[in-house]
Amino acid sequence: MERLQKLIARSGYCSRRKAEELIRLGKVAVNGHIITEMGFKVSEKDRITIEGEPLISVNENIYLLMNKPRYIITSTSDDKNRRTVIDLLPKQYQKFRLYPVGRLDYDTKGVLLLTNDGDFMNALVGPKSDVEKEYLVRLDGLISKRELKEIEKGVELENYKTRPCKAFLESVDRKNKSSLARIILKEGKYHQVKEMFAAIGYPVKRLTRIRFGNLTAEGLKEGEVRELKPHEIKKLLVRRG
Ligand code: URA
Repeated sequence: MERLQKLIARSGYCSRRKAEELIRLGKVAVNGHIITEMGFKVSEKDRITIEGEPLISVNENIYLLMNKPRYIITSTSDDKNRRTVIDLLPKQYQKFRLYPVGRLDYDTKGVLLLTNDGDFMNALVGPKSDVEKEYLVRLDGLISKRELKEIEKGVELENYKTRPCKAFLESVDRKNKSSLARIILKEGKYHQVKEMFAAIGYPVKRLTRIRFGNLTAEGLKEGEVRELKPHEIKKLLVRRG
């Protein structure tokens, strides 16, 4: 269930403020009854009319930001029957064919986008995309700043060399012989962060994506989603030099 004005705005008919005005003016009916109560709850099943005309969704593009928990698969289905990010979506989004924008490993948590807009997806995950992805990386072993400089220059992996990036030492835990690093990448190959650190002798114990472009998971509990705001979508699509 969601508020009537929100559903109208989400359909692309008008802004939320305009929807509130229409409701106040008695122009909106739900299942044949005029509703003037602000915040009236409706679902996709309700028949909504505005000035007698059925509300048709003209803006079917959905852009979600999820705070993905660990041990959830970034896929639309799983042959081992593990829970997927799609299973976590609230009911109102289940009817859209949403796909994750890029991938986070099963045991990685943090910022993940989902959309049904193929152009948006291609702009953000293709080889030409240079959106920054920032990760917190818990490493097995005491990494040095000098070794992080090596990571920054690029690491030879099996069949490619990673592009220059930024890497920082956040803290070291001498007692448990582990370190916390932060890395900012502009590319996103499969298992890239884990492979980069493993290549110089530091297995990744835990990985969290804390930023994708301009977006963080601030305000979202693990497993929660929110819709992107129009200015956030635009900003992601602006090409950086
Ligand atoms: N790099 C990885 O190795 N795993 C992820 O989930 C994301 C980036």
